[in-house]
Amino acid sequence: MIPEDNHNRARVITAAQPLRILIANAKGGSGKTTVATNLSSYFANRNETAVLIDYDPQGSSTQWLQSRQADRVTIHGVAAYRKATTQFTRSWYLRNIPADTRKVIIDTPSGLSGNLLNELVRESDVIIIPVTPSPIDIRATTVFIKDLLLSPAHRASPKRVAVIANRVRKNTLVYAKLELFLRSLKIPFIATLRDTQFYVRASEYGLGLHDLDNAQNNDLSDWRRLIEWIDQD
Ligand SMILES: Nc1ncnc2c1ncn2[C@@H]1O[C@H](COP(=O)(O)OP(=O)(O)OP(=O)(O)O)[C@@H](O)[C@H]1O
Ligand SMILES: [Mg+2]
Repeated sequence: MIPEDNHNRARVITAAQPLRILIANAKGGSGKTTVATNLSSYFANRNETAVLIDYDPQGSSTQWLQSRQADRVTIHGVAAYRKATTQFTRSWYLRNIPADTRKVIIDTPSGLSGNLLNELVRESDVIIIPVTPSPIDIRATTVFIKDLLLSPAHRASPKRVAVIANRVRKNTLVYAKLELFLRSLKIPFIATLRDTQFYVRASEYGLGLHDLDNAQNNDLSDWRRLIEWIDQD
């Protein structure tokens, strides 16, 4: 709970405020859950208390957490989609996550727009938009970015927003088109994630790249760029 007393409130907020990372794109299958689960595993392995909040009624992040073996580094989960509410308030957070939480990672559903988009933007510090190389995804993402940047919450208090390219096969025409699109945006294009079956297999076992000793170096350096950008906060 946030104390009512002003002096205490300032102290509690500066001491314990977690960074809230929203992963969003209204386009289905762009890699939101993959990014959210892998980021959660990264921060948890870095010994930061991480909470993965699942806003998608499909429950993919929640299922990923349920598949995770007990001897793996702990990631706390909140199946927010089970709550029939769009009330995503700061006090709700503080009541429902461990007191020492450092990172809150929010996985969102496809089709995100309107009130829920606005609420989630309001309650986030940074926003990451994954995009896959396809003309349909590029078109859908253009509309989503416009909705996001024009949302009352973002206009009132602009967030740090970035795009990443996901399922990338370099040296393909579709990727060249995606890269051109991402570089034309007014928001930073910060990382590319390779198209690899690793993510598909790992998702079955509740694992992320950073849980494994044999992760490929080029994949790790892709994530490093994304994480450095997040760590600027
Ligand atoms: N970099 C990648 N390489 C290979 N497969 C990937 C990659 N990223 C995601 N996938 C696979 O693509 C599919 C869609 O990814 P994911 O579930 O993360 O997208 P999503 O945006 O969360 O989808 P939804 O909108 O349905 O929630 C999954 O099967 C996932 O394992
Ligand atoms: Mg998903």
